[in-house]
Amino acid sequence: MVINFQLVNKIITALKSLKKYYLYIILWTLLVSTLMYLLFPSGISIELYSFLIIIYLTGLFYFFGKMRRNELDEIQSIISSIRLNKIKSKDSIKLNRNLKILEDEIYAMYVKMQDDINYLKKLEKMRTQFLANVSHELRTPIFKVQGYIETLLDGAINDEKVNLNFLNKAKNSTIYLGNLLNDLIDISMIESGEMKMSFRYFNLNEYILSIINHFKDTTVKRKIDIVYNPCREDLKVYGDKERLNVVFSNLIQNAIKYTDVGQIELIVEEFDNGVNITIKDTGIGISSIDLNRIFERFYRTELARSRLVSGTGLGLAIVKHIVEAHNSKIIVNSRVGEGSEFSFTLRK
Ligand SMILES: Nc1ncnc2c1ncn2[C@@H]1O[C@H](COP(=O)(O)OP(=O)(O)OP(=O)(O)O)[C@@H](O)[C@H]1O
Ligand SMILES: [Mg+2]
Repeated sequence: MVINFQLVNKIITALKSLKKYYLYIILWTLLVSTLMYLLFPSGISIELYSFLIIIYLTGLFYFFGKMRRNELDEIQSIISSIRLNKIKSKDSIKLNRNLKILEDEIYAMYVKMQDDINYLKKLEKMRTQFLANVSHELRTPIFKVQGYIETLLDGAINDEKVNLNFLNKAKNSTIYLGNLLNDLIDISMIESGEMKMSFRYFNLNEYILSIINHFKDTTVKRKIDIVYNPCREDLKVYGDKERLNVVFSNLIQNAIKYTDVGQIELIVEEFDNGVNITIKDTGIGISSIDLNRIFERFYRTELARSRLVSGTGLGLAIVKHIVEAHNSKIIVNSRVGEGSEFSFTLRK
């Protein structure tokens, strides 16, 4: 004989789900049979017997129907409480013991819904904050350009002592605006997942030397040295050269911007299958509280703001995304007044 285990299992599960009702069924059966026995001790006709069976079954169906209705009411009441936001804790989601699995599922659904709502609220807040920040950052340079042009038009254009100066200042503001827009485009492309990466092997030493060369004028002007101990000449690393240029430039620019005296050091350390790159400075440093936030968009420390060096606080947010697109992580160590070091790894 072939035993259909699936069917047996189904029957057992169905019987188990009725467990709670067995007592009622037994009590009802006992009641009806006792009544029958007491009322008709000498036996009954087949018609009366059928009639009593019908009464018995009707009672049983009524009982099951009522139980089912109660359960549906309970479920409906919990669902409307969720819909009306009346649930305050897990205890508010209580169904009878028979519906424990359903209770757990409803609770899991409720938690997931709350998480989704909170996430959407957070996104909405970030979006508003982002818009406010962008408008704020755009307003200052635009007003500056407007101011210089108006002053020039009001007569300063003929004043040899200030006209070139004002034009240069207006030009600097437009350069700042251009950089800000580029950063914003980068950020939005990165965050919408549109940033196309183009990975290939390239010579690290040549690459770093050309970047350092690019900053030569600035470092000479600021009287800060960039120290770099060339790495193995034939060392090749794997990455997107153009995007990494943004990373190196932002980190070196920051090191220059936030350092008054001392030096900036670029360190390349080889390990088994990659290299660790560190950009270290002897600048103003970052407090431990700020360290957790500097990679947020538009975040600038009080120390940086008070230095009057321009910046939007987008640089490190972009750096972080690009480094992560290289399967790496940007690590920062810093102490106020002593300096900072930012490092990340690349595959070789
Ligand atoms: N090397 C550093 N030394 C000290 N503080 C730093 C350094 N690098 C970053 N910071 C702090 O982190 C903040 C965020 O840096 P981030 O590069 O994102 O912005 P920024 O340099 O102010 O502006 P920009 O968008 O032009 O790069 C800076 O404003 C500064 O407060
Ligand atoms: Mg920066």
